[in-house]
Amino acid sequence: MFHMNIVILAAGQGKRMHSNLPKVLQPLAGKPLLAHVIDRARALSPQALCVVYGHGGDAVRGALDAPDLAWALQEPQLGTGHAVRQALPHLKSAATTLVLYGDVPLIRTETLKRLLHAAQGALAVLTVELADADGYGRIVRNAAGQLVRIVEQKDATPEQRRIREINSGIMAMPTARLAQWLTRLSNDNAQKEYYLTDIVAMAVQEGLPIRTENPKDIWEVAGVNSKVQLAELERIAQRTTADALMERGVRLADPARIDVRGELVCGRDVFIDVNCVFEGRVELAEAVEIGPNCVLKNARIGAGTRIAAFTHIEDAGVGPDGRIGPFARLRPGTELAEDVHVGNFVEIKKSSIAAHSKANHLAYLGDATIGSRVNVGAGTITCNYDGANKFQTIIEDDAFIGSDTQLVAPVTVGRGATLGAGTTLTRDAPPDTLTVSRARQIAIAGWKRPVKTKK
Ligand code: UD1
Ligand code: CA
Repeated sequence: MFHMNIVILAAGQGKRMHSNLPKVLQPLAGKPLLAHVIDRARALSPQALCVVYGHGGDAVRGALDAPDLAWALQEPQLGTGHAVRQALPHLKSAATTLVLYGDVPLIRTETLKRLLHAAQGALAVLTVELADADGYGRIVRNAAGQLVRIVEQKDATPEQRRIREINSGIMAMPTARLAQWLTRLSNDNAQKEYYLTDIVAMAVQEGLPIRTENPKDIWEVAGVNSKVQLAELERIAQRTTADALMERGVRLADPARIDVRGELVCGRDVFIDVNCVFEGRVELAEAVEIGPNCVLKNARIGAGTRIAAFTHIEDAGVGPDGRIGPFARLRPGTELAEDVHVGNFVEIKKSSIAAHSKANHLAYLGDATIGSRVNVGAGTITCNYDGANKFQTIIEDDAFIGSDTQLVAPVTVGRGATLGAGTTLTRDAPPDTLTVSRARQIAIAGWKRPVKTKK
């Protein structure tokens, strides 16, 4: 499309976050603020992508480094103009440069494309009108309505402070011009900073066309300076994701009560009840239903499966037509085939369960390989851990595991075997056989229950 450089300004401190985590690493919708900006920048396929960093330097760079990123250290931080100057060595001079802020995460790619279009042979500034413009750089226009300069709040006259159109900070311009302007910036202003915004007046003086564009929504240019603003943008990000899901056919019980902290991919006719959290990459195939208050992280759910309330699934796969929960927990490495039923208070870890098997109540299955049409009774536990090592349990097809059974691994239950209730299985159970380990029941006639003696 356009040849462009993108510079992301991320050297500022973010004191008002009151956090040890650098501001641009604060998470929004499950990923750092700066990662949102980088992803949106990447969507434009820039020739050069440079992050100007400073505060929390190594942590920021360490968290987000990638082969396509150039990093320019700004130390000390002497203003936005000074910040862009640090990026210059990384930029292609024949291209347009787009300046983004690392703490403005929700800017739309569409908006940036319009701005870049406006910046061909011109300086283009993204502006918005705010009811309360306090603190922002004001857009000063001449009688003809043309942008002539940007004046910072602290340098503005009382009259200029009444201007409600503000500089979002996002702008684009020809790189060769930018490089010249940056060498001429001075810090002779109220904040003793090198203002990037001063390049506007320079461009006007040189007769370069100046254009402004507006985002479709004001929140696209909203920055994050506090936890309150972070939470406000989180809601906007979540609502945008919810709307996109519904537009693709997903039915949400309440679009205000879903949290997607990663990527949620849904087939047709998926239904999601309230208060579910999706993390990492989650795939829900056609006609999956998710009950209220479920947490799914890096999970794949097969077509037609119903996940009931309060189920927690992480790094696991569920086949089609399954019935999971309520109150089920599928831990990493769980793979369930089709039509598997997992009921309340069943925990499964690093185990595979083949088609049509059931564990409907109160069980722990860890490091187990379970065949088809197996019934795991209530209270069954794989004793997979001796305090130092983990061992495997194998339950072959058509086995029936009686209630309150302990399977002391390593152990195998043969095909078609039945384990009597209460069995503690320490040796393999042969196929098609009843195995039971249980103290014989005795009845003691004439036994007297102790009674309390009166004092
Ligand atoms: C800047 C603009 C102002 C605009 C406002 C929008 C200037 C002089 N002013 O205000 O017109 O209305 O943004 O929010 O450009 N940064 C650095 N290094 C620095 C200073 C800042 O990397 O030395 C980065 C910050 O991390 C942040 C961005 O630049 O991402 C803006 O800095 P901030 O201090 O929030 O903005 P202002 O300078 O107050
Ligand atoms: Ca500042």
